[in-house]
Amino acid sequence: ETPVIVAIDGPSGTGKSSTSKAVAAKLGLAYLDTGAQYRAMTWWMLNNGVDVTDPAEVALAAGKPQIVSGTDPAAPVISVDGQDVSAPIRTQQVTSAVSAVSAVPEVRGRLVELQRAAAAGAARGIVVEGRDIGTTVLPDATLKIYLTASEEARAARRNGELKGKEAVGLAATREALAKRDAADSGRRTSPLAKADDAVEVDTTELTLDQVVERIVTLIGERA
Ligand code: C5P
Repeated sequence: ETPVIVAIDGPSGTGKSSTSKAVAAKLGLAYLDTGAQYRAMTWWMLNNGVDVTDPAEVALAAGKPQIVSGTDPAAPVISVDGQDVSAPIRTQQVTSAVSAVSAVPEVRGRLVELQRAAAAGAARGIVVEGRDIGTTVLPDATLKIYLTASEEARAARRNGELKGKEAVGLAATREALAKRDAADSGRRTSPLAKADDAVEVDTTELTLDQVVERIVTLIGERA
């Protein structure tokens, strides 16, 4: 039986992570959060005195951190040099810096290699979420999904996630999301983009269960 490879891309706040984990859990597939890898790289740079606004410095440092991603959808732990960084990679400081780091080709080259290795090693198959999975990382995926949602819905979801952790106003969340998406879409190397053969799913009016159901059905039709 050939492994099922599912690529899930889209901007921030569309429900990519919740959806990808749920699909993987439901079908017994592995799960890979590539955004967490870019965040882990960024976290390491911020903690090791790298000026993240200097692409040359970032490029030189890109090979140093040892990033290991767990692929269990129930507990996707990510570590850097043996340290669990699952929590610290979600801080505002990392979120603000990650787009600059992820725009550097040496960073992408390093992480794309890890991502392809994870997909190749998943015996039953894997759900991989990110921005360039369908276009660049796994162009031969069994199924490519491109998730979208209105700007209002995305800001509201992200704000809900942040609640209790960091007090941020809805307007500020919306602005930060728009800024990050513009940077991710506008970069030269592997920008956020819908693959020609991706199925677009607008999640604005759908529940998580409905989105998961649609994707599971699509997988069933192709696997
Ligand atoms: O998915 P998440 O919001 O955690 O991703 C954090 C950042 O990592 C994105 O804003 C983007 O800059 C970068 N990223 C990327 N390519 C991917 C996944 C994430 O450039 N495949």
